[in-house]
Amino acid sequence: MLRGVSDDVNQALRDEQQRFEAALAEVNDADALYELQVQYIGKKGSVSKLRGRMGKLAPEERKAFGMAFNEVKKAIEASLEGRKQAIAQAAREADLARIEDLTMADTMSAVGSIHPISRTRRELARVFRKLGFDVVDGPHVEHEEYNFDKLNIPPTHPARDMQDTFFVNGEGGVADSRLVLRTHTSPVQIRTMLGRKPPIRIVAMGTVFRKDDDATHSPMFHQIEGLYIDTHVTMADLKATLYRFVSAFFGADLKVRLRPSFFPFVEPGAEFDMECPFCPTNAAGEKLPHCSVCKGGRWIELGGSGMVHPKVLESCDIDPQAHSGWAFGFGIDRMATLLHGVPDLRLLFDGDVRFLEQFPC
Ligand code: FA5
Repeated sequence: MLRGVSDDVNQALRDEQQRFEAALAEVNDADALYELQVQYIGKKGSVSKLRGRMGKLAPEERKAFGMAFNEVKKAIEASLEGRKQAIAQAAREADLARIEDLTMADTMSAVGSIHPISRTRRELARVFRKLGFDVVDGPHVEHEEYNFDKLNIPPTHPARDMQDTFFVNGEGGVADSRLVLRTHTSPVQIRTMLGRKPPIRIVAMGTVFRKDDDATHSPMFHQIEGLYIDTHVTMADLKATLYRFVSAFFGADLKVRLRPSFFPFVEPGAEFDMECPFCPTNAAGEKLPHCSVCKGGRWIELGGSGMVHPKVLESCDIDPQAHSGWAFGFGIDRMATLLHGVPDLRLLFDGDVRFLEQFPC
């Protein structure tokens, strides 16, 4: 009972409050709750309308009515708020109950993209397949014999030092060969020549490991190895094939050159360079002096190459009198940094999403 207020106004307020409470008990969602709020305490709501009766009351009743009205309105507001919280909590619980597998991918998450190295590897495979090469694979943990001995790398070579190479504990499997994390993809040459007979035309791509670490050398990086063995194969085939490769891969007719170099598993050996495809040109197509990639040098080195050494052929039971061939080994990471203008090789392996987002599919 609301004290000091005439019976009929009192009754009307109480009736509205009871009707409201009964209606509230039926409400289970936020929209219906809002409707109820409008219906009772909105501007034209049934409770709000009762306030109009104030003018008809005796002056001494008005104060008591005002207090009674506010009490009812506040009680209704408190009930509305309580139900609002309960509905929100129920919705949260329903959401949680619906998600049975919390590891399930969020359908709204951003779509990932292919890492620049993987993209470069796919493009390399596409180009070399077109040139008639098979794409083959080899293990990351390799026999010392395949990584070094059969490639004519002598026991005194610095790469065989514990400080230069990651040796791995475990059974070697091949005679007394120790295990190493392969330092280059060249042992895939050995595996291929031991497993197939000429003619052989393969490329092998993959991860290799060395104790290197600076802006252009990573302890874990990627190489592509090429091997072609047949009869009467010459350096001219090597140069022509690599010329076709760089022109297809970098999308321009690029000059190439071979510079004498030494690798124990080839004779003669050469560094392979291509003309820089990134040099800015003037309107007449002439190269301008400042290029951020080749720094004005005009040539970019891709890696080593040469004619497979007769001792390597022999170590794989291929007669060097009957067959000859060439091989090359280039850094894939270098090609990826060139293609995408990445200043520091290590960015490729940091796994920083802000970097990777710059290479959308
Ligand atoms: C070799 O690894 C030879 N196996 C290549 C070869 C194959 C020569 C067949 C002849 C015949 P080299 O150590 O120069 O060669 O490495 C080849 C390329 O790998 C380099 O030109 C460079 O692009 C890349 N490279 C070497 N070390 C690193 C490193 N730490 N991080 C990133 N790239 C590297």
